[in-house]
Amino acid sequence: MARETFQTRLKRAMESAGLKQVDLVRIAAERGAKLGKSQVSQYVSGKVTPRRDVMELLAGVLGVTPQWLMGATDAMPDDVAAADATAEAAAPQAPSTSRQKTTDQGSVTMREFKKSNKLDNVLYDVRGPVVDEAARMEEDGARILKLNIGNPAPFGFRAPDEVVYDMRQQLTDCEGYSDSRGLFAARKAIMQYAQLRNIPNVDMKHIYTGNGVSELIQLSMHALVDDGDEVLIPSPDYPLWTACVTLAGGHAVHYVCDEQNEWNPDLADMESKVTSRTKAIVVINPNNPTGAVYSKEVLEGIVEIARKHQLMIFADEIYDRLIMDGYQHTSIASLAPDLPCVTFSGLSKSHMICGYRVGWMVLSGNQRCMRDFIYGVNMLSNMRLCSNVPAQSIVQTALGGYQSVNEYIRPGGRVYEQRNYVYEALNAIDGITAVKPKAAFYIFPKMDVKKFNITDDEQFALDLLHQKKILITRGGGFNWGEPDHFRIVYLPRMEVLRESMEDLADFFAHYRQ
Ligand SMILES: Cc1ncc(COP(=O)(O)O)c(C=O)c1O
Repeated sequence: MARETFQTRLKRAMESAGLKQVDLVRIAAERGAKLGKSQVSQYVSGKVTPRRDVMELLAGVLGVTPQWLMGATDAMPDDVAAADATAEAAAPQAPSTSRQKTTDQGSVTMREFKKSNKLDNVLYDVRGPVVDEAARMEEDGARILKLNIGNPAPFGFRAPDEVVYDMRQQLTDCEGYSDSRGLFAARKAIMQYAQLRNIPNVDMKHIYTGNGVSELIQLSMHALVDDGDEVLIPSPDYPLWTACVTLAGGHAVHYVCDEQNEWNPDLADMESKVTSRTKAIVVINPNNPTGAVYSKEVLEGIVEIARKHQLMIFADEIYDRLIMDGYQHTSIASLAPDLPCVTFSGLSKSHMICGYRVGWMVLSGNQRCMRDFIYGVNMLSNMRLCSNVPAQSIVQTALGGYQSVNEYIRPGGRVYEQRNYVYEALNAIDGITAVKPKAAFYIFPKMDVKKFNITDDEQFALDLLHQKKILITRGGGFNWGEPDHFRIVYLPRMEVLRESMEDLADFFAHYRQ
């Protein structure tokens, strides 16, 4: 006999527990968990299967096991147990000190371990619920085209041979921990790189390598942010910044980047958002998800705001070697010798080695006013002992000499040609417009929400996934306030991109939400 699906089991368990969709939403809220009405209705209608934590939540509310709810086991929890669980679910939660419960039969049930509520407002859709649904579909045998993550390796971009060779040569010398900030040779190469970018006042002591820029974003926000502090972050953003400020107890306050002005930050909006709690401005340049490269004038405007309001500047410049069409990149730290600046970069994208996990941050400018912050950074850096040493060992090789990435970003190069193609193809779709990206490998198109009747961009992403097996990231995943954008990663080869753009055009020719 065929196994029941999640949808069937969910309906059965709800019926047996006498719970309606609204009850699930309410009980989840009482338990401090977020469960949207539309989410539940999608589960009930069988459109979506929840990710693991939501599955556990639903199972807990319904008094069944997650395995049963998923359809993995045949044994039906008896109705009595389900009914008991309902009564319990409807009642207020036991205090966390009451660790064990005894059932009527005298056996002890284990207390529930929930994720920390520090994570309640943390969003990371780049690997979020729509991605979970894609994974579920893949398990069922579907082939999904992933245009959702900036990971070059699966699309045939290879690490430069010299980098791989040098890591191999040095591997046996990389068995121990390094200095917590990183190997001397790596930091020296980063320092020289910072000098070439005119970043002033850099001391070897204040260069830190990390397991990717990601680790250092988290580390630096934890070092800086007190509960209630505000950090200005672009919208759209690379969502890790918002997540890390939130996790550190702060508030991410978003300033708007203006699509009408080639996605440059709106300086008036930025300044209007400064309050007495604001500590820092984050600048992502070149930008993910828009592909924008900011002009020197715009950067000077940001520095002026930081100077006037005594703010630190955090500059995420991981795409600074992936700029097309002859645009020049200016490191914002080079314009702010008098201000405390932290500049982030790494090799994930420029050397197509996301998996090696190597990034760095450079503290520059006014070191004196960030002495205590540096103390905090050192504490946290020491606590994680050091970053991946084999990856550090190739920083010098990677930053010096011939830069193979340049082959990709000039006319005829893969990234350049794919960018041009995707830009043209998207703008040819009725109801879609996109600003041409100048850097990186992302484009952030706008949808005519009236034409497509779109009110929920997560629903749009799911519909596209189900209908065309294309996975993109919705604009909301980048802390963009309207449901009218999405991000495409244009790394796949041209023939794959062509097919996917045709599918996208076909989708939008019929789509109404
Ligand atoms: C703007 C930005 N910053 C940081 C990162 C993380 O990079 P890493 O691989 O060095 O952790 C990414 C990755 O996509 C990014 O787009």
